[in-house]
Amino acid sequence: MSQRKILITSALPYANGPIHLGHLLEYIQTDIWSRFQKARGHECYYVCADDAHGTPIMLKAQQQGIAPEQMIAQTKIEHEADFAGFAIGFDNYYSTHSEENREFASLIYQRLDQAGYIKRKTISQLYDPQKNMFLPDRFVKGDCPKCGALDQNGDSCDVCGATYSPTDVKNPRSVVSGATPVLKDSEHYFFDLPAFSQMLQEWTRSGALQEEMANKLQEWFTDGLQMWDISRDAPYFGFEIPGAPGKFFYVWLDAPIGYLASFKNYCDTNNIDFDSFWRPDSAAEVYHFIGKDIIYFHSLFWPAMLDGAGFRKPNAVYAHGFVTVNGAKMSKSRGTFIKARTYLDNLNPEYLRYYFASKLTSGITDLDLNLDDFTQKVNADLVGKVVNIASRCAGFISKRFDGKLSATVAEPALLQEFVSAGDSIADSFEKREFARAIRDIMALADKANQYIDNKAPWVLVKDDARQQEAHDVCSMGLNLFRVLMHYLKPVLPVMAGDVEAFLNTELSWQNYQTPLLNHVINPFKALMQRVDPVKVAAMVEASTDNLQATPQTPAPAGAKQAKTTEKSAAPAGREPVSDTISIEDFAKIDLRVARIVSASAVEGADKLVQLQLDIGEGETRQVFAGIKAAYAPEDLIGRSTVMVANLAPRKMRFGLSEGMVLAAGPGGGDLFILSPDDGALPGMRVK
Ligand code: MSP
Ligand code: ZN
Repeated sequence: MSQRKILITSALPYANGPIHLGHLLEYIQTDIWSRFQKARGHECYYVCADDAHGTPIMLKAQQQGIAPEQMIAQTKIEHEADFAGFAIGFDNYYSTHSEENREFASLIYQRLDQAGYIKRKTISQLYDPQKNMFLPDRFVKGDCPKCGALDQNGDSCDVCGATYSPTDVKNPRSVVSGATPVLKDSEHYFFDLPAFSQMLQEWTRSGALQEEMANKLQEWFTDGLQMWDISRDAPYFGFEIPGAPGKFFYVWLDAPIGYLASFKNYCDTNNIDFDSFWRPDSAAEVYHFIGKDIIYFHSLFWPAMLDGAGFRKPNAVYAHGFVTVNGAKMSKSRGTFIKARTYLDNLNPEYLRYYFASKLTSGITDLDLNLDDFTQKVNADLVGKVVNIASRCAGFISKRFDGKLSATVAEPALLQEFVSAGDSIADSFEKREFARAIRDIMALADKANQYIDNKAPWVLVKDDARQQEAHDVCSMGLNLFRVLMHYLKPVLPVMAGDVEAFLNTELSWQNYQTPLLNHVINPFKALMQRVDPVKVAAMVEASTDNLQATPQTPAPAGAKQAKTTEKSAAPAGREPVSDTISIEDFAKIDLRVARIVSASAVEGADKLVQLQLDIGEGETRQVFAGIKAAYAPEDLIGRSTVMVANLAPRKMRFGLSEGMVLAAGPGGGDLFILSPDDGALPGMRVK
């Protein structure tokens, strides 16, 4: 096996939000692969960084009243702590807001410009005259130019599905200030992607991409590649373009360059030859792991930029699918938008590493984290199979045999079978077929347990004449366990470390073929607890953005208002109002029977349903209710319920909410709207 030089990256997480379990699929996948390559003796580096630039980061820092530099510094600390918690073994974790990145971004831009790949063109875009800034598409809202639906996104309509340019939106407004945007001209810089069409088509078919990705790219080639707008006007948090005051590199220009910057920063402090990895004729290998949502950037813009600027291209870009939880997109109202920190507060990180590994393939299909399956699988495989081998054998070795393994291999053929499986397991890891590797390892774990079942060392030890046999069987069991833990080491580095301490040996590809004979081990300590379903539930609970009664609105006893805003002003954990009120107080509440005439989801609001309510006498009311986790909007249409009709109307991000519907239950998916008995008609007063 000749030594390879390998550089591995994961996509750079944005510096304006926490790491969540969706992200972690990628970092765990990459980390397993990087640990595997290192274990095989290759010269391998794994680098990453925070993606620190762009409008959302600039605006979020403004909202918090701090400098963006301060915000990204804080986020980086949190991200690094989260990654460390999941044993993600980066060799370097850096930031795109770094000197190295500024230099590489400038260098690449200047080389592209000199080669004629940068074009300048004046374009007209929506501009916020109050904030004095151009508005990215997602910072414009307005009415759909096709169907007229109110309050739609700047680029697409949630009601009729139309997509359009933000300049076509009717009654547009700036999400940043609420002002009406105006059109304004500005000169933009474009990267000539079409000039690389030929090169990219060849590269795509060179084996650098998964088949599904290559097919996707083929569609883009067929549609024709477009010029890419790489400049943004001030104010912008990023790097100013050399020779273009007031113009900044678009965040996606310098983000992948962050891979170079992070690696350069590492090379400089560790005496590694950066150029030997990145010059065009480099024999080193470069791999990018990414999610399927950012394929375009990594398989078109990035290789073209590298090529145009005289750097080598990656050997491969490996995309993965998206994480769903319990079969659906991660959702705050269902408690399935789980932050890395919330997970770590409740569960062992290696459960998740194992679960993801057991389901990961080299493809880009989505991966479902079903929490019941997660509990069941980790308990059955890791605790019930793998750890079980050791716990059934270890006690006898320390209690009866002075903590020393026997001098002979009881069943050489069985041990050989375990050792020989290494080639094909390594091949599965190499090809990112982790699920296949885990399946093979677990099949071996079953065999080891069968062996122990058959030999029943707990019976042998009771027979004075069979002590040697008992010693040999337990030693055999531990030698099998050792081989399996060696295979699992890239997936479970922490537990593997504990096993190394217990077995008093390093688990490595250099020595795993040779059994431990006459070898002194250490006392066995529990290696892994079972997944506690109570902890899983606690994690979901802690992730649930519960519906809360707003403090200024009274709640009828036992009922809880369906919250009408995205962010409640109520302090967390506030109990329902329990003070008594007078009958006069109660009479002030105008409760009416209402019929739901239409109901639809609200783009950009996970929990809200937009309701049109018939409250009699020809009057309809629009209400935004936080009941999406409990009801599909279409199931609500035609139903009767009870509403508070004289609640002060409330202007929300999505439109005016004119009242509130009543619902009971703890919140999230467990919420039940109140229904009157048959005969109650829209508009009737509830007394
Ligand atoms: N900043 C860009 C990447 C720049 S790379 C030069 C970005 N950041 S991100 O924070 O949104 O996502 C980081 C990575 O996590 C991406 O590869 C993305 O696909 C992945 N994931 C984010 N949510 C995910 C899931 N729910 N499931 C799986 N991967 C997900 O994109
Ligand atoms: Zn529309």
